[in-house]
Amino acid sequence: MSQSQETKLHVEADEQHLLLDHAYDNIQELNHPLPSWWNFIFLICCIFSGGYFVYYQLMGGPSLRDEFNQEYARIVAVQEEFRKQNSAFNQEHYAGILADDGVNKGQVVFENNCLPCHAEKGAGDIGPNLTDDHWLVAKSTPDTIYGVVFNGSEENGMPAWAELLTKDEIYQAVAYVSSLKNTFVKGKDPEGEKIED
Ligand code: HEC
Repeated sequence: MSQSQETKLHVEADEQHLLLDHAYDNIQELNHPLPSWWNFIFLICCIFSGGYFVYYQLMGGPSLRDEFNQEYARIVAVQEEFRKQNSAFNQEHYAGILADDGVNKGQVVFENNCLPCHAEKGAGDIGPNLTDDHWLVAKSTPDTIYGVVFNGSEENGMPAWAELLTKDEIYQAVAYVSSLKNTFVKGKDPEGEKIED
């Protein structure tokens, strides 16, 4: 830009005092002070960080890991409480489930969750054949089947369904599994102990 074309910086009258006393390449600069709310927040942050440092670094405040462990312990306690309350088989509730089309509803639960391991009609694959008269962990009765489905047999590959299915879905699955026993669908060979009833 030639000198003659140079445009004059327009500065409002009330901003004159903000104009800095220098110009680089004819560029002039206004120095607006930071707004007071910004300074205020900055000050609050400085005060907070002082307290934060003293509490967490000098006074032994809990570390992130400590806080995680505390919260995790609370989760475990809630889970245990839930299991305690629901792990007991309730015969009356089961009767209600059976009366409410439990076996057919249980078949749906079974097909959605159990099929990969127990195969079509419970004939067995990774998990044992559920249609014979041999039992590995359950003892053929609905209450023992409920116990296995609820708590699993995790060291042998049967998941615990306590937190994965609703209580009613577990009861329905038990109703369906109970309806399978002694139907002797051809599949995996019998495993475990023979129980006649
Ligand atoms: C990831 C594979 C897997 C899935 C999914 C699975 N199971 Fe199992 N299940 C097993 C295994 C393995 C066993 C044998 C456990 C043992 O030997 O301790 C078993 C055992 C059982 C038993 C006890 C059988 C016996 O002979 O005592 C029942 C009942 C059962 N499962 C029901 C179910 C139901 C109902 C579902 C779905 C909600 C399900 N399982 C989903 C793998 C599975």
